[in-house]
Amino acid sequence: MFKINSRKLTQQEAILLVENIKLITEITGYSLKEWLTFEDVLIAEDQEENMLGVCLAYDFSSNWSFISVLFVLEKFRGKGIGQLLFKEACRQILSRKRNVYTSSRNPVVIKMMKQLNFILFDTLYVLPQPFNKYKFDFLLRGIKWITSFYRMKELSRKYLKYKDKRKFVYGIKSYE
Ligand SMILES: CC(C)(COP(=O)(O)OP(=O)(O)OC[C@H]1O[C@@H](n2cnc3c(N)ncnc32)[C@H](O)[C@@H]1OP(=O)(O)O)[C@@H](O)C(=O)NCCC(=O)NCCS
Repeated sequence: MFKINSRKLTQQEAILLVENIKLITEITGYSLKEWLTFEDVLIAEDQEENMLGVCLAYDFSSNWSFISVLFVLEKFRGKGIGQLLFKEACRQILSRKRNVYTSSRNPVVIKMMKQLNFILFDTLYVLPQPFNKYKFDFLLRGIKWITSFYRMKELSRKYLKYKDKRKFVYGIKSYE
């Protein structure tokens, strides 16, 4: 049994997350310091409130939110936790009358996007209509995200491991 809570991570949870995310190529992630500043991380917990997985979403413009991290600890995968976290993140964003944007190269997450009827696309140069007018917001979000010593270091380290060359798929779900 597990439940989803929206709260800050404890120091111990943040350390566990950083250590685990360092081992996978699908997520670049955030530094320990950054994780500890996020107020509302969706956290899947067991009965004893042990963290099993997390989903991090944040607002990046007046009407857009980005799902930045979806992660389930390896031994708890395949039990529906990732899907529940992703659905709950989308539900919370849409209920605030905001659009959801995310991207992934993981087939499991791409399948989740399809199941929730996301509009999928493969380049950020031209967004699907009628969203192309928000291109600048998307660009700015990307620039802010990459402007981090931690992420530049992690990206260059992980780049060497991107052997399968799976492409990123981008997804939008509009609240309207
Ligand atoms: C991606 C991730 C979050 C999925 O979490 P999860 O708890 O294992 O996923 P779920 O159990 O909710 O499964 C969701 C769906 O994917 C399917 N699925 C899960 N793992 C699968 C696998 N390894 N192969 C094929 N299908 C899989 C499930 O059967 C389920 O399908 P359904 O909707 O038809 O029932 C998890 O694997 C993970 O943390 N991976 C590493 C980090 C990562 O890549 N995150 C995404 C970056 S954007």
